[in-house]
Order: sequence, then structure tokens, then C-alpha cells
Amino acid sequence: MNIGVIGSGYVGLVVAACFAEMGNSVKCVDIDEFKIQQLKEGIIPIYEPGLDILVKENYNKETLHFTTDIEAILSVSEIVFIAVGTPMGKDGSADLKFVLQVAKSIGENMQHHLVIVDKSTVPVGTADKVRETIQKSLNERNSNLTFDVVSNPEFLKEGAAIKDFMHPDRVVVGANDESSMELMRNLYAPFTVSNDRFIGMDIRSAEMTKYAANAMLATKISFINEIANICEKVGADVNYVRTGIGSDKRIGYQFIYPGCGYGGSCFPKDVQALINIANNHGYNPKLISSVESVNKAQKKVLFSKLTKQLGEDLNGKTIAVWGLSFKPETDDMRESASIELIQSIVKAGGKVSAYDPKAIHEAQFYLKDIEVNYCNDKYTALEAADALILITEWKEFRSPDFDLMQSKMNGYLFIDGRNQFKTDFIESKGFKYVQIGVS
Ligand SMILES: NC(=O)c1ccc[n+]([C@@H]2O[C@H](COP(=O)([O-])OP(=O)(O)OC[C@H]3O[C@@H](n4cnc5c(N)ncnc54)[C@H](O)[C@@H]3O)[C@@H](O)[C@H]2O)c1
Repeated sequence: MNIGVIGSGYVGLVVAACFAEMGNSVKCVDIDEFKIQQLKEGIIPIYEPGLDILVKENYNKETLHFTTDIEAILSVSEIVFIAVGTPMGKDGSADLKFVLQVAKSIGENMQHHLVIVDKSTVPVGTADKVRETIQKSLNERNSNLTFDVVSNPEFLKEGAAIKDFMHPDRVVVGANDESSMELMRNLYAPFTVSNDRFIGMDIRSAEMTKYAANAMLATKISFINEIANICEKVGADVNYVRTGIGSDKRIGYQFIYPGCGYGGSCFPKDVQALINIANNHGYNPKLISSVESVNKAQKKVLFSKLTKQLGEDLNGKTIAVWGLSFKPETDDMRESASIELIQSIVKAGGKVSAYDPKAIHEAQFYLKDIEVNYCNDKYTALEAADALILITEWKEFRSPDFDLMQSKMNGYLFIDGRNQFKTDFIESKGFKYVQIGVS
């Protein structure tokens, strides 16, 4: 199939590369000329395991193309994905300006019947807005071209995006007509050969499914964080409680790890957008609003654990931070707990030495006004440190050399925002070990 993908960010690039890998001819467009130039030179602007190989191979095979010219892709595509950003607006709503700009230029430039697919995460009713915007542009051209709008929310996880797209748990498609649904079914057939995971539905339900999924996952995280905070108060250990409840199949072990709050490009903005959608329809989503406020509070927990140990005034103290990205296997810093923590440490007079395997470049952008000593490896970050705070559970932090750590550090305080170790084990290495949800 001839496919156009508009927006070559995390989602657009993964979608384009995976469709190309399955033998389609995919043309990717972006307004960011620098990004498109980099992609043509084989430079992948994000860190996502396996993506560089897939992009380079398909680009060299000419099954994947990059351009800034939307007209060129519309003239040869039969199906066009909109995969541009939907950032959080000032009022918490999803800002649709990029999506609607794309819809407008589709209407201005399309030359034959097209199926337009909303891949971006968009509020319920957006497909109608996309349809109206395209139709308006066509009317202005006095064109009677036809098109269909389909919703196909994306469920990939950064860090495992290729695997998730190639082997999806489900493919959700919302369409109002059978021919578009059939086209989408055929397009996704290679990804669901062993087990048909294609779930067709109406457009509004598909749009809502994405928000419901992210709200559910965010709820699990805020739930266990709240339980962790109660555990600390009552002298229980959340690590036991987590395994105790996870063994119940109705609850399950996934997404009930206590931590320093969820971040990333999706949960914070999508939870906020869902609250906004509900409010706009006269409904007060009490549970989902609490999920959001529990998360905001959780992002302060590591700093309060630090000051409890070292005092409120951190002048003269050096704090080592391991991990900066919002989760492992990505360089994405959006809404990462590390941002607020580092800002708080510096505001309290402390110095920060930080190491992350992939996200230092991004962190320098997100913390551009803050002085941070970025280090090339995890042990250098520990030099003269009074405490270590682990934020992101990259694999290389799982079995560190504790003797080497001790030889570098000033004070042996280890605050673990991901509860990676057993207390007895770390204490046997001579560290004071502070976890989340353990008093
Ligand atoms: N990142 C994720 O893990 C993830 C997962 C599922 C869904 N989503 C959703 O997918 C959408 C895209 O997210 P992302 O993380 O890929 O965003 P991103 O910011 O990484 O990429 C968006 C790209 O769109 C480009 N763009 C903006 N306006 C354009 C235009 N008019 N024409 C062409 N290109 C344009 C930008 O330059 C950018 O490269 C969002 O709605 C997001 O919520 C993201």
C-alpha cells in the first residue's frame, strides 16, 4: 500500500518504519526541515531501541522516504496518517492546532480520494473537526473530492515501541464506513497474523479508548504510590504489599510498582485532557482528578526524603542523580520526575552531579537554567557525593560495584526512587538505604 505519515516524531517514525518493514511504500513528512535532513542522512533524532536499523534499512531499500513537501506525499498515498503532537494546552485540554493545521493542508493539497487516519491522541469529537476542516478547504477549492476520516489510536510504549507496534496487544480502529474499516483491517493484517487482535468500533469510542487506557494505567500507578505513602505511615513495607496484591489475577503485577510519579509525553497530558473533556461535558471526574493530584504530590517525595536525611539547607552538599529520562530505554525527558527533583535540590543550595545513559542531551534542554554537572558514567557522578538518588531504572544501575561506589562517595546515603534492591543487601554494603513506601 502507498502510505503517507504526517509528523515524524516518536509515533510517526515508528509507524512509518514498521509499515515500510512490512513491504508498504511509506512517505514521511515533517515541517521540521532539520529533522528531515537528519533522517535522510541516517541520523535518528530520538533514542528508541531498534528504530535506527529499521529506518536506515528501509530508507536504503527506498520503501521509506522523508520529505517536507506534504503535497508530494498526498499525490501518491491512498491512506494518510496524522501523527503530529497534541500537547497540553494552558487549560489542560489537548491542543489540536497541529492536527487541524494538517487537516487544512490535506484539504488544500489532496488530489484523489483519501482515507485520513487520526493516529495522534485526540479528544472525542476530533475526527468530526478534522472532517469539517478538510471539507472547508475542499469547498474553498470548489473541489468535489471525497475522503474518509478514521480513528486509530496508538498504544506503543516508548522504549519498546517497535516491539509494541510489530506485535500489538490490540489494534483499535474507529470508522463509520465499511470500506475504510476493511482497508485498515488489510493494512494491519501482517501485524496480527498469529492472532486477530483487530478491534473495530465507532470513531468516538476509538478516540475514548486511548484516554481510558492511559487513565487506567495512570490510576494503577497513583494507586500504588498512595498505598506506598500509607505503608510508610503505618510501618508496612509496600514491596511485600505489592507482591501480596499482584498475585491476585484480577489485580496483576503490572503497573503497581511504587515510584516517584509517572511522567513522559502521554500520561500527564492525557489524564489532564480527559479531565478537561469530562468537565466540558458537565461531568466532574473525581477519581481521575485524584490520580493527577496524587501524581503531582508523588514527584515531591524523593526531595522530602532527601531533606529528611540531610536537612532543608543543602548548601555544601553534592547529590548524585542516576537516571534522568522519565523511564528507561528512552531519552524522553518530558514530565520526568528528575526535572522537579533537580530544580528543588539546586534551589535548596545543593549541587547535582547527574548521569543517564541516553538522556543527558535532552536533560540539558529541559534544565537549561540549572547548573548540573553532567557526567559520562555512573561512578564519576558519585565523586564527593553526600547522597545518591536513583530516578530511572536503567539496567546498568541494577548491579553496580558497591565498593567502587563507596570509594567515590562522601556520605553513604542511597535514596532509591524505584525500590530496586532489598534493604538488607544494600545495608550490608554499608549504605543507608531509603526506599518509597518503606518506613
Ligand atoms: N510518544 C508516545 O509514546 C506516544 C504513544 C502513543 C500516542 N502518542 C500520541 O501521538 C501523537 C504524536 O506524539 P509524538 O510523541 O510522536 O510527538 P512528537 O512531538 O515526537 O512528534 C510530532 C512531530 O510532528 C511534527 N509536526 C508538527 N506539525 C506538523 C505539520 N503541520 N506537518 C508535519 N509535521 C508536523 C513535529 O515537527 C514533530 O516532529 C501525540 O498525540 C501523542 O499523544 C504518543
